Amino acid sequence: MSKMATLEIDGKKYEFPLITGTENETAIDIKTLRGVTGGITTIDPGYKNTGSCESAITFLNGEEGVLRYRGYSIEELADKADFLEVAYLLIFGELPTKEQHEKFHADIKAESHVDDDVKKILDGFPKAAHPMGVLSSLTSALVAFNPTSVNVDSEEEMYQAIVKVMGKFPVLTAWAHRKRAGLPLDYGDDTLGYVENFHKMMFNKPNSSYEVDPKVISAIDKLLILHADHEQNCSTSTVRMVGSSHAGLFVSISAGINALWGPLHGGANQAVIEMLEAIKEDGGDTKKYMAKAKDKNDPFRLSGFGHRVYKNFDPRAKIIKVAADDVLERLGIEDPILDIAKGLEKEALEDPYFVDRKLYPNVDFYSGIIYRALGIPVEMFTPMFALGRLPGWIAQWKEMRLRKEPIGRPRQVYIGETQRSFKDVSKR
Ligand code: ACO
Repeated sequence: MSKMATLEIDGKKYEFPLITGTENETAIDIKTLRGVTGGITTIDPGYKNTGSCESAITFLNGEEGVLRYRGYSIEELADKADFLEVAYLLIFGELPTKEQHEKFHADIKAESHVDDDVKKILDGFPKAAHPMGVLSSLTSALVAFNPTSVNVDSEEEMYQAIVKVMGKFPVLTAWAHRKRAGLPLDYGDDTLGYVENFHKMMFNKPNSSYEVDPKVISAIDKLLILHADHEQNCSTSTVRMVGSSHAGLFVSISAGINALWGPLHGGANQAVIEMLEAIKEDGGDTKKYMAKAKDKNDPFRLSGFGHRVYKNFDPRAKIIKVAADDVLERLGIEDPILDIAKGLEKEALEDPYFVDRKLYPNVDFYSGIIYRALGIPVEMFTPMFALGRLPGWIAQWKEMRLRKEPIGRPRQVYIGETQRSFKDVSKR
């Protein structure tokens, strides 16, 4: 007999079952609420207390700073796995065997091209366009060139849709950069690994042979793994919501890219570097920016701090902080903004405002410093996040469709005018 929660309204009692997940998280199942109460609903702006689905992909415990993909800790995956292995794990549920890994990579490579006419769409964008806008538009546009609707009940069709997106997305991401940088478009080299090929597509120059330090590739691999999924965050919920209307995979991903772009979400990695640069230009006065962040009349927030779910250290930030030190040292780069970031973190962690509100550095606080050391321009930081998050979006979209979830359609409590009669324009 499952445990029940009792709700009392105007002396009348209603019972709802409690459901418990595999990590002992408990939720009140209110699916029948409106029916049994005659139309009473719940309200929870920002969904701070609302679970939108049951999911078997990522487990996150914000109080204890735990993050696991399909049961494997983020620390172990970042240390031992490569990005394609993690992508496979998220999407298909298990780590791939050697054969599965090779087949997955080969199938992705077979799809690592986009119709040449996509170049014409890219041509239409001004050079200064933000690459996130370009990326979301081009991802949507892929539908026009691959006009297949996926039969989600067919494992083969689902697999083909997945390798298509995994193959074409890095091409579009690299092209968004090359357009801005004034470089001719490039298709890379499919004898290379997934991440190295992406790097080549980004940075290959037409007049020189391509070489890359393996440390650079391994740092990008690790960053992509750390960003690969984060359960029902804003962009992932967007992907699931758009997909719930049975819109296709490309356009659902495109919607996720737009959600990720905002500075409160993935756009924070760009905002952090711009903030640290501004502090440096201002003579390194971190106290001034701390005061601004605490001032309720100032809209400024300390970018890269705080998280909806983590009320303890973001485990990804811990790994990235160590990786930032390591990458800069191994590449022999000294970046003064790393010291500013560490100083800011130290001050925040000792300041009652941040301590009381449990505001810790999040994944975006140090990632930009690494991207910068790897020669990735600041506007490309959020597209790099999108590339990392792609397997998570795919896995969540697939799960949502296979579980046959209903169309996402929240309720509201109407607070506008009650019924009134139309007034002719002469009487208004
Ligand atoms: N700087 C200053 N104050 C902050 C910050 C911050 N970065 N973050 C939260 N606060 C304060 C709020 O003003 C609020 O104070 P109050 O209780 O006195 O009103 C309190 O902390 C709680 O903040 P909320 O905005 O209610 O928390 P919420 O869970 O809604 O927001 C968010 C989380 C959006 C991440 C927020 O912390 C933030 O804006 N951070 C900066 C942007 C950022 O780094 N985003 C990346 C998040 S990670 C990711 O998406 C990949």
